[in-house]
Amino acid sequence: MSNPKDNATAALVDSLNGLLADYFALYMKTKSFHWHVAGPQFRDLHLLFDEQAQEMFALTDTIAERVRKLGGDTLTSIGAIGGKSTIKDQNDTSLNAMDMVRELRDDNAALVASLKRVKDAAGEAGDNATDGLIDDWTDEAEERVWFLSQITR
Ligand SMILES: [Fe+2]
Repeated sequence: MSNPKDNATAALVDSLNGLLADYFALYMKTKSFHWHVAGPQFRDLHLLFDEQAQEMFALTDTIAERVRKLGGDTLTSIGAIGGKSTIKDQNDTSLNAMDMVRELRDDNAALVASLKRVKDAAGEAGDNATDGLIDDWTDEAEERVWFLSQITR
């Protein structure tokens, strides 16, 4: 990969794999909160976290297959996800419900910022398909941030 176009594509593949790792990690954290949340808002939060987790999981296949369509290799294992994810682990099962909501709000806001960087990389690589898809992924992530933000007001 020596010409600029190939370098740009390699950079896009790398950023898509990082994004995929973040989606898997945030899916797992959101599912954990779905399983462990407690308190007076249990039912609402239990259901909301499940909806949001399913929405993220549904995108993982699309992201991985974008990488393959670009000629790259994608993630292969939980270890590979851990090596590339920027989402911080949260293993405290007794975390306060509002602390869970705030943490997911901030993680999803960080995901929106990552999506912006991947979109820039798609533009550099001239990858119109990824560029177009990211707008929908961003709208979904911003909706998750909005829902979570409204709960903490
Ligand atoms: Fe469930």
